[in-house]
Amino acid sequence: MDKKKKQLLEKRRQALLGGGVKRLERQHKKNKLSARERIELLLDKGSFEEIGMFVEHRETNFGMDKQRYPGDGVVTGYGTIAGRLVYIFSQDFTVFGGSLSETHAEKIVKIMDLAMKNGAPVIGINDSGGARIQEGVVSLGGYADIFYRNTLASGVIPQISLIMGPCAGGAVYSPAITDFIIMTEDTSYMFVTGPNVVKTVTNEDVSSEDLGGASAHSTKSGVTQITAANDVETIEKTKKLLSYLPQNWKAKTPRSDYDLGDECREELCDIVPDSPNKPYDMKEVICGIVDRKSFFEIHQDYADNIIVGFARLAGRSIGIVANQPQSLAGVLDVDSSKKAARFVRFCDSFNIPLLVLEDVPGFLPGTDQEWNAIISNGAKLLYAFSEATVPRITVITRKAYGGAYDVMNSKHIGADMNYAWPSAEIAVMGAKGASEIIFKKEISDSLDPEATLKQKEKEYAELFENPYIAASRGFIDEVILPKQTRQKLIKAFAMLENKKDKIPDKKHGNIPL
Ligand code: HXC
Repeated sequence: MDKKKKQLLEKRRQALLGGGVKRLERQHKKNKLSARERIELLLDKGSFEEIGMFVEHRETNFGMDKQRYPGDGVVTGYGTIAGRLVYIFSQDFTVFGGSLSETHAEKIVKIMDLAMKNGAPVIGINDSGGARIQEGVVSLGGYADIFYRNTLASGVIPQISLIMGPCAGGAVYSPAITDFIIMTEDTSYMFVTGPNVVKTVTNEDVSSEDLGGASAHSTKSGVTQITAANDVETIEKTKKLLSYLPQNWKAKTPRSDYDLGDECREELCDIVPDSPNKPYDMKEVICGIVDRKSFFEIHQDYADNIIVGFARLAGRSIGIVANQPQSLAGVLDVDSSKKAARFVRFCDSFNIPLLVLEDVPGFLPGTDQEWNAIISNGAKLLYAFSEATVPRITVITRKAYGGAYDVMNSKHIGADMNYAWPSAEIAVMGAKGASEIIFKKEISDSLDPEATLKQKEKEYAELFENPYIAASRGFIDEVILPKQTRQKLIKAFAMLENKKDKIPDKKHGNIPL
């Protein structure tokens, strides 16, 4: 082998070692895979093509000229997942703690630019101590270059962030702008300021895990949509998520082969209880409707009074938004409105048709909700549905009351098809509350106010607690038996497949953020 070839092979060998064997061992001891191992697991075997393997930092202060590692702490390139092109960067914690230098940022930017020009998703694996402290402002500039591209790429190509180690300081704002954040339990954390700063400023004692671990962000802040037990599961969930998404905003969603058969699902008949106030699990309804084992829930530990997630219907990817009567009776509140609005906007950006399953008694009352802006937050969901131009179908399984009826993808805000089960109750409010208001005088003047209230309640319920008044107005297109739901939806989504709709020309709307 001639000298030049040998030199190349030696340089490659060096690069593959990252920060060296000892640091790699330290990484493994923390139950973390290396940057390269993560890429290997994520991409189809042999598909990874690396870009910028020999890039090195340019810093000379603090003895940095004597510490150079080929690749400079991030492995970047492209490959395929299930045969579909993706661009990827994976931060290497063994090189300066995966910290972001000027050149490290340039490598990420190069990948993002290629992804935009070629219309394919970007997956970023974050495992970094933040800005490369030795470099100062050029590192900050590098971050801003990435944030700017994250923003421009939003709605053009799917962007997925995996948090598989530290992600702190301003570094959090790149994942925050991307479409999905997936965090690994126990080994990852995200925060703007860490426990030491928190202690100094607010005198609170808190660990990194409690402050910004996977659990905190999946249950309290809602910053992360998906969590996974370890590196391997994080990667498996990423592949699954990607399987529902198109390559870019102009592409159709992926579709698996499906032969239509008898799509009647008897199991849907017994889910909604006879008593209107008894809870039930809307996930049973979802699983009864969609292709077997295809439901992939997003944000499952946050605001669980609403369910969002992807599924397949006759092989076609759809997004689902569903009230969950099992939690807070399925009311809409601040957190569930925000959660659902973001999901609806994602689906609309990427041509993923929307199915809404509705059982909602209204908005949650109270000072906490009002002072935390249920007005603006509820409006986010209303706005998100109203501006969505993808095929949109609603099925009302039980309650559809008050303003929440309007918000949950009603015909009036542009839904294409609206179905109701015979158990549906579509009214301005519940029979008791309504009777107390409109028959107030009659009730109080009567000899037996309690019996009169009961009688009025019954009359009101008979008149309004059904789907037929809405159906007689055309607000509901058809009242269907639960077991027919899957069949009806398959046909209706197929009918809507080439839907073309447009919102008025504008620079952009002003969603109540
Ligand atoms: C340069 C860094 C580094 C950084 C870690 N290292 N962070 N080098 N810049 N930001 C190096 C360490 O010197 C060490 O080098 C190696 O990475 C591993 O770090 P350890 O501390 O040994 O690892 P660990 O104990 O696991 O702790 C990880 C850590 C800690 C919690 C991330 O390293 C840490 O607190 N780092 C600093 C975090 C930080 O303050 N970053 C700047 C935030 S400001 P050797 O040679 O020993 O392997 C910021 C602004 C961004 O990010 C703004 C954008 C808008």
